[in-house]
Amino acid sequence: MSRSIFDLPTPCFLIDKDRLQKNADRMISICKDLNVSLRPNTKTHKTIEIAEMSTGGTKRCIEVSTLVEAEMYADAGFDDILYAYPITNEKIDRCVELMGRLSEFHVMVCDLSGVECLKANMDKLPAGKTWSVALELDLGFGRTGFNPDSNDFVKAYREIVKTMTLLSLYYFSGDAYIIRKRSERMQREHDVVHSLIACQNKILSEFPNVKFILGNGSTPTCSEKMDIHRCLVGEFHPGSYVFNDYEQYLAQTCRQSDIVCRVMTKVIAHKEEKGMLIVDCGSLGLGHAGIKQRPDDFCIVEGETNLKVVGLCQEMGMIQAKEGDLDCKKYPVGTILFIYPYQVYMQDIHLDSFLCGYVVLWCDTRLRPGLQRQPLSTPSFMFTQRRPWWTFGGLVRAGNVQYKGPADTREGRQPE
Ligand SMILES: Cc1ncc(COP(=O)(O)O)c(C=O)c1O
Repeated sequence: MSRSIFDLPTPCFLIDKDRLQKNADRMISICKDLNVSLRPNTKTHKTIEIAEMSTGGTKRCIEVSTLVEAEMYADAGFDDILYAYPITNEKIDRCVELMGRLSEFHVMVCDLSGVECLKANMDKLPAGKTWSVALELDLGFGRTGFNPDSNDFVKAYREIVKTMTLLSLYYFSGDAYIIRKRSERMQREHDVVHSLIACQNKILSEFPNVKFILGNGSTPTCSEKMDIHRCLVGEFHPGSYVFNDYEQYLAQTCRQSDIVCRVMTKVIAHKEEKGMLIVDCGSLGLGHAGIKQRPDDFCIVEGETNLKVVGLCQEMGMIQAKEGDLDCKKYPVGTILFIYPYQVYMQDIHLDSFLCGYVVLWCDTRLRPGLQRQPLSTPSFMFTQRRPWWTFGGLVRAGNVQYKGPADTREGRQPE
């Protein structure tokens, strides 16, 4: 049995449970204070334990991005689940099944094909139920959702209001990630809320008695109390806030001390002539996210301000000095390093995983005899396989670690 995290095999994905709980509680408290509901997007972690934490134990009002997640949460007693992903025909049967099992299950449409799909499948619905629909708007992010000025938006809400139940007008403010400056982000959020309210009013002018809410947010927009949200009758649906990561830190959404997940990796070789350390964590453990946009600074090596990850192979990472030549002898083979990844949810985390109180260990399933890697076209496969190995055993506490992390030196969200 492991006694300290240094006894765990590397690479190893570590979760600081105390930080996790704090982040979850903090969002619950922000929402309470602003009088908006919280519908956490659970796709970031895809775990029952963290979904329980982020709903404050109610197990109600969550959103997912895959049906495997929805089914898993339904099995675990969760209810009021929004499948926040464009609906298509081949998903209908499983959605109908979930509607039969849950008191509330909602789907999302982002274009007219989604509305048509729901309309064509009305006859499959369980007796007494109608489709409950989040209508996604594109208020600037440019990914999915109706243009609020388009005829398609009008056609969609008319059809939904007349023949289905409109749950919400939904905007995922992904554009907030691009706006690094807090003041500009707040201004942008101001405009978003006004646009949402304008869309709401447009529907209400035609259908004054229809009841629906406004769904808003992403981690950067939800993570701080903005007064503008007090006029929002609706819900927030952030996801990454439970973990936070280097990207959130750079967006000044969190402090370094709010980042929950680190990858523990080990120096396995040196390339002396290049002043380079080779570690046992590559793109499968850290993900490729950020490396293109920020090749010199896409993750943090904890406590090692002069080290940077300069390259990633599948299962190896290359580390050099930011300035000057690295003396490899200072990092003998076996040295443990902790890396905060850029986007925690983008990691190709393969899951010989066990959650033991404070530490989650995620390794590559391919190393585990008898387990087959599933095709990547079904990303949530991990889930069904991950679950049986997870236990809350309390084996290892991150607090046992002797290593002292660095002081928070960079600019981030200020402590309250
Ligand atoms: C539709 C939708 N809603 C909510 C979220 C959660 O966003 P975040 O992780 O930025 O909080 C996402 C994330 O990609 C999303 O795609």
